[in-house]
Amino acid sequence: MSVLVVEGSQWGDEGKGKITDYLGQYANVVVRSQGGNNAGHTITINGEKFALRSIPSGIFNPKIKNVMANGMVIDPKQMLEELDGLINRGIKEFKLFISNRAHIVLPYHKDLDGAYEDLKGNLKIGTTKRGIGPCYADKINRIGIRMGDFINEESFKKNLSEALLIKNKELEMLGLKQYSVDEIVSEYKEYAKRIKPYVCDTAELLEMEIEKGSNILFEGAQGAMLCIDHGTYPYVTSSSPIGASVPLNAGIAPKYITDVLGICKSYDTRVGEGPFPTEIDGKLANYIREKGHEYGTVTKRPRRVGWLDCVALNYARRVSGINHLSLMLFDVLGGLKEIKICYAYELDGKVTTSFPSTLDELYRVKPLYYTMPGFDEDISNATTFDELPENAKNYIRKIEELTKIKVSMISVGPDRCQTIMLEKLF
Ligand code: GDP
Ligand code: IMO
Ligand code: MG
Repeated sequence: MSVLVVEGSQWGDEGKGKITDYLGQYANVVVRSQGGNNAGHTITINGEKFALRSIPSGIFNPKIKNVMANGMVIDPKQMLEELDGLINRGIKEFKLFISNRAHIVLPYHKDLDGAYEDLKGNLKIGTTKRGIGPCYADKINRIGIRMGDFINEESFKKNLSEALLIKNKELEMLGLKQYSVDEIVSEYKEYAKRIKPYVCDTAELLEMEIEKGSNILFEGAQGAMLCIDHGTYPYVTSSSPIGASVPLNAGIAPKYITDVLGICKSYDTRVGEGPFPTEIDGKLANYIREKGHEYGTVTKRPRRVGWLDCVALNYARRVSGINHLSLMLFDVLGGLKEIKICYAYELDGKVTTSFPSTLDELYRVKPLYYTMPGFDEDISNATTFDELPENAKNYIRKIEELTKIKVSMISVGPDRCQTIMLEKLF
């Protein structure tokens, strides 16, 4: 039995979907444990592209049990549209289990997400406006609505009328439309009816799978630097995407997690606002953005681009327990004369490898780089480490030296077959 966590080690969009799909070949269960449809996971199977938002990436394999666990926030309407989209594209046989303890995203969460952003003006977070933050806030405020109650019309009405006592006041204060119980229930009871067959106690299911010795893959969403606790607060998401959050968000014992695979681009990207110490712009950033198709899966926003930041990566390793790396989009660096890699920051005249906690410091740090010779060769067909050009190998060795994490996988293109496996993880 293996319980492997696939975790974004940067600011999201590292290629978690691709790797989950690839490792899914060896998994019995694939679990999404937090976040919601703020995620956008791209999977390319035999040239055909799929973009998943809240449904786990094991959905294409009829043998895999796909779990949406208690730590998720699920937008019932969007989730059903996503499912219908898959069914229409021929994905008709699948196994899906949704936690009765997951929270649901309702229209007022999305309205509030947009309104908070507008109110903040220049200080906006740059959220995906999918209602994620307001939904998690309601969970913490104990006025959220959980799947188990959502699928029972009487409980849904009761819980919703309690929540609206507070939410309508907030909506009114912000000059937004208020909702009645009937208005929401009349639309959402249809969604509840369709979702009900998938709802169960997923923690119980996971325990049974663990006892059976199944291979379980946790498909992270977002990335360590977007963690509500350890990320670049407040420019973060509203949940914790790191390995440590998995037991809580899925209802399994921490002792079962055997490995944490950090998914890591061979450079850095970030969508939305917030500090990004190694950010670059101009021609070089454009080259990487265009070659790597660095535009948001969910919002289509151009992603900000920067050099690989090993101070941030080391920090992610420490807070998440990452013990393997999958180096992604390595093909994108091909054609660059030089590649830079950040090994430390300079802050107030001092060299540091600690990741600062405040925005003030993060905006002031100056990244210190090693400059390495690049490689011209097209590596997108490489199938082994030995086939890589010497300069590419040296870059990988440098990452291992700076982070003390073993690079166990290398991705040289979006397709499943463009993956170099250096160590068996399942
Ligand atoms: P996720 O959110 O972590 O699953 O990542 P996204 O799907 O949002 O973004 C990663 C993008 O990179 C997707 O468009 C993938 O198809 C693409 N991708 C993944 N691995 C590679 C790779 O090795 N090379 C290239 N060129 N593209 C890749
Ligand atoms: P995947 O799983 C990249 C970012 C948003 C914004 C911040 C808060 O595809 O890697 P939110 O809507 O969560 O309140 O937005 O977090 N963000 C992501 N960035 N990839 C993601 O998911 C993200 N999910 C949220 O852009 O900056
Ligand atoms: Mg993404």
